[in-house]
Amino acid sequence: MKASARAGANIAFVKYWGQADPELNLPLNNSLSMTLDNAFTLTTVEFLPHLAADALTLNGEPAGAAATRRVTAQLDRLRALAAPQQEPGFRHDAAPNPDSNPVSWRARVESRNSFPTGAGIASSASGFAALTVAAAAGLGLDLTLAELSAMARLASGSACRSLHGGYVEWLAGTSHAGSYAVQIAPPEHWRLIDAVAVVSGEPKEVSSEAGHRLASTSPFLAARLATVDATLAACRAAILARDLVALGEAAEADALSLHAVALTSRPSVWYWNCGTQAVVEAVRAWRREGLPAYFTIDAGPNVHILTLPGHLPAVRARLAEIPAVKEVIVCGPGSGATLLSEHLF
Ligand code: DP6
Repeated sequence: MKASARAGANIAFVKYWGQADPELNLPLNNSLSMTLDNAFTLTTVEFLPHLAADALTLNGEPAGAAATRRVTAQLDRLRALAAPQQEPGFRHDAAPNPDSNPVSWRARVESRNSFPTGAGIASSASGFAALTVAAAAGLGLDLTLAELSAMARLASGSACRSLHGGYVEWLAGTSHAGSYAVQIAPPEHWRLIDAVAVVSGEPKEVSSEAGHRLASTSPFLAARLATVDATLAACRAAILARDLVALGEAAEADALSLHAVALTSRPSVWYWNCGTQAVVEAVRAWRREGLPAYFTIDAGPNVHILTLPGHLPAVRARLAEIPAVKEVIVCGPGSGATLLSEHLF
């Protein structure tokens, strides 16, 4: 009944932006990411009889109502999946006996991030990947990686990619079971660096969820979707060939296309601030000076700098000269979500 899991956050080179089905979190396009080693979530879930409601602790503090509701929604999906498996004779019209029906039990959940909250690293991806793996195990569900990935997707789209380590593609699909992530190369294939330049620790004003829903109001969405398959092909080939220049150019183009869609949505969504612009300008200048580094930016102001380990000291030294950069978090490719034998409580 008690299970724990660890899952890494991920950074997308070709991003998920806009949904074909907002209920099922089916995306408009495939996306491609690297799971991060140095930014992960640890989660313990214990299903208990006689708990009135799911109770969530986040980084040592009781979580707010909105976060708890999102966790309960995911636990409910997994509890519903477990019901017929656990009790072959289960009748949906029968009143559950709370003492003997563990799938109706509420859970105590504790979750800790290895990275500071508000660091511009999506904690929902690692958080919901870890929650899905731990809760599925706690409920005795025997799911394949593809099924776990699809379940994680229902809670947070990008979480489906964190089931796998290394380099990962989310196959958009057209149904719940057909929309899940696959690994395209393991973490040891290529030691790429994602140095996250934190320029704001504030929560973003417009959530990814709201951004996805507004994407269809932008006249540029069609242009983004017309080019995304070519960007995906370029990224896949660059990863397999360990080609930073090709990957960096494709990832920058994709991030700029996402932000072009966001900026031209109605109402307009601005994720950049002056610090974002300062880092982007710096990265472009470094390249002109011969330092290979590329940027990508998610739905927030912080800048992820893609480079190779040999260039990291130079990148760090130059970032230290930019006053807007408050902190730098350095990540490489990490492993996929795993069950742990040690628990948080
Ligand atoms: C810009 O819907 O997965 O990071 O709201 O945190 O669950 P949450 O995010 P999600 O959208 C992610 C959008 C993105 C691009 C990406 O990671 O592909």
